[in-house]
Amino acid sequence: MTDQFDVVVIGGGPGGYNAAIRAGQLGLTSACIDKRGTFGGTCLNVGCIPSKALLFTSELFEKAEKDFPKLGIKTTGVSLDLAAMMAHKTKVVGELTRGVEFLLKKNKSEGIVGEARIVNPGQVLVTRPDGTTRTLMAKNIVIATGSDVAPLPGVTVDEETIVSSTGSLALKSVPKRLVVVGAGYIGLELGSVWRRLGSDVTVVEFLDRITPGLDGEVAKQFQRILQRQGMKFLLSTKVAGIDKKGESLRVNVEAGASEKQTLEADVVLVAIGRKPYTDGLGLDEIGVKRDPRGRVATDAHYKTNIAGIWAVGDCREGPMLAHKAEDEAVACIENIAGRAGHVNYDAIPAVVYTAPEVASVGKTEEELKTAGIAYKTGKFPFTANARAKTIAATDGFVKVLADAKTDRVLGVHILGAEAGNMISEAALAIEFGASSEDIARTSHPHPTLSEAVRQASMAVEGWAMQM
Ligand code: FAD
Ligand code: NAI
Repeated sequence: MTDQFDVVVIGGGPGGYNAAIRAGQLGLTSACIDKRGTFGGTCLNVGCIPSKALLFTSELFEKAEKDFPKLGIKTTGVSLDLAAMMAHKTKVVGELTRGVEFLLKKNKSEGIVGEARIVNPGQVLVTRPDGTTRTLMAKNIVIATGSDVAPLPGVTVDEETIVSSTGSLALKSVPKRLVVVGAGYIGLELGSVWRRLGSDVTVVEFLDRITPGLDGEVAKQFQRILQRQGMKFLLSTKVAGIDKKGESLRVNVEAGASEKQTLEADVVLVAIGRKPYTDGLGLDEIGVKRDPRGRVATDAHYKTNIAGIWAVGDCREGPMLAHKAEDEAVACIENIAGRAGHVNYDAIPAVVYTAPEVASVGKTEEELKTAGIAYKTGKFPFTANARAKTIAATDGFVKVLADAKTDRVLGVHILGAEAGNMISEAALAIEFGASSEDIARTSHPHPTLSEAVRQASMAVEGWAMQM
């Protein structure tokens, strides 16, 4: 066992483990350190994976109850076994975190469980769970320490009744009344899970719209669909405080100075964003600069201001998404290896895994207007898509935004079933600098939902054929 490495990666999430894998592929020796005890970071342990497992099973549960009879499948006595549903989630998480351990080994990266601190550039001290320490010497250190839940001032998360996403992925019973603070990714995904399982869900959002950052037209229709499903929204409303009263919680909310009300809840989910996590890393002691939002500051090549120290993923600027962390990890290691690693931030898709899903890549209409870019729009509703009809999933539409002069695709926004799987075609189009006509003239299999992407692309030039 050596204590000398070409690359020491701090953090075993999508940023960290992918950095270690790419290092191995390029012939660099590496170690990947995580204090959590299992690899995979937030994403595999308490993020993407457990939430998607619960989104899948809760959607089936609701379908079995409400939709199967309409499709000629008689169901009687459909009931919830929450413990078994959670067991499926836990099994999937276990398989995937062990899979990361396997991938580290396969790529000759030493996975180390422990808390890392950078003592000097080139020197990392690891404190193992039993308190013993080990010093690693590194030609390069990659900080991939991720993010943590942003706190709501004056509210203490106990992960029992006032929960973050982590607690809400492991509730022992279905809360009768769930108040969600924040109408972003987590609030809407996990709010959907518990609504499907029987909770009465009210989402309190500070802004006058849901999912800030997503295309406004998409967000409006998305909200209407969620409301139709039974989710309630209080927009332009803030939480002034939460009081415990016996077993229940009283959430005091304010929409302006005069409009105050109290919501009764059994569980409150705080989902108002995440903040970069760099506690205890020793950054200030060695002088690694951060930006005004506390994120590790890097240049476009992921280098910090200290030679040999790099950063990727949630702990630096940009969207907090697993694939963004992965893309940066690959580019960062390629830069370390003397190659030309690069990430195209205009082509990073984002997906909300509700039903229907929302997926987008590139610019929104609002962004194009603000930037003064002239654009053309093509839209196509899933009500006119044959496959959507056959699978009884006609909610939503596809919207393609293309440059008014060059026809280059600038943004694609999909609200609909399987939107997350379909958005990759649009990401590829943006990556290749394709025009909307390129998508329109590309053969798409019939009958598939992806034909709606083609039809919306045709609509940019006014020749959508199926509406
Ligand atoms: P992380 O995954 O946070 O990993 C960082 C790791 O570093 C952690 O395991 C931590 O223990 C470790 N660490 C920190 N400090 C130290 C230290 N000093 N020493 C040793 N180890 C340390 N993104 C998507 O793209 N799709 C989704 O569907 C999705 N769903 C999500 C659902 C939820 C509920 C949440 C919370 C997040 C979700 N995300 C999703 C976001 C995604 O999880 C993050 O963007 C991603 O995990 C970031 O990867 P990372 O490697 O930068 O950091
Ligand atoms: P978010 O940034 O997506 O949404 C937070 C919401 O809370 C915003 O709408 C914001 O306006 C609102 N808000 C902020 N302060 C508030 C307050 N005091 N009161 C009421 N509302 C308030 O953050 P979220 O949902 O916590 O998720 C964190 C991040 O995790 C996401 O931004 C995303 O990067 C990642 N994530 C990604 C997922 C995916 O890719 N499917 C799923 C879950 C999380």
